[in-house]
Amino acid sequence: APDVDVAAVKADLGELQSIADANGGNRAHGEPGYQKSLDFIKGKLDEAGFTTSVQEFTSGGKKGYNLIADWKGGADDKVVMAGSHLDSVEASPGINDNGSGSAAILEVALAVAKADLQPSKHLRFAWWGDEEDGMVGSTHYVDSLAADDTSKIDSYLNFDMLGSPNPGYFVYDDDPELEKVFKDWYAAKNITTEKETEGDGRSDHAPFKDAGVRVGGLFTGAEATMSQEQADQWGGKAGEAFDPCYHSACDKASNIDDKALDLNTDAIANAIWTLSS
Ligand code: PHE
Ligand code: ZN
Ligand code: ZN
Ligand code: ZN
Repeated sequence: APDVDVAAVKADLGELQSIADANGGNRAHGEPGYQKSLDFIKGKLDEAGFTTSVQEFTSGGKKGYNLIADWKGGADDKVVMAGSHLDSVEASPGINDNGSGSAAILEVALAVAKADLQPSKHLRFAWWGDEEDGMVGSTHYVDSLAADDTSKIDSYLNFDMLGSPNPGYFVYDDDPELEKVFKDWYAAKNITTEKETEGDGRSDHAPFKDAGVRVGGLFTGAEATMSQEQADQWGGKAGEAFDPCYHSACDKASNIDDKALDLNTDAIANAIWTLSS
């Protein structure tokens, strides 16, 4: 897999920040900043040759939207999916939560196009609406699948909060094979990972897991506090939150650890190349 340029991911985050700034400070479900965020991501995917579709749903009396992008080819009864929620809470521009995952999978998707990857499994990327009110968009997507379409999803990888400013390196411990792909990549870089426990069931992998799809993912921590032991192994700040700006107005473009974002983006590229080959 290629090394994805973190500068491109950061540029996307700058664009999402500008969208929030111009639209009341957020990119929340039902607000104009959400639609603008979706248009931005969709434009890049369309230009790169993805087949995109927008799935509409209603939540809290407002219309919400999932963005789905399919890459040509690959066995359509073996679909490898990667997803991130694109909405923020209303109090926040949502750059770490979850511009980070959204921009990371966008740049991995663009790398797939640039490489003209011809995977043996089919690749699909998703940007979910209204995660923040209880994974509404991703649940709608899973509920809209016919039973045999669900069984055609080989794996679902979730990316929510990848650049926390006091980062931990957490790998979802759901499916062992998916977990191993991420753990081995980090181990080869001599970076310790831990099992993700802070958010079990708290992001868009939950509806897939409930439907019997194997899931995996990465996470750098939210409002939980980093322990001394974790600070020693990761060079972070013990006694401080992984993300002190979680769900706050200060979750802006400066609220990102570039190294964590870079490593996680490259780890995603490796997983997509490996799992779809
Ligand atoms: N889904 C949570 C949110 O968006 C954050 C989270 C992500 C928690 C991943 C745990 C694991 O607020
Ligand atoms: Zn990189
Ligand atoms: Zn959140
Ligand atoms: Zn989130």
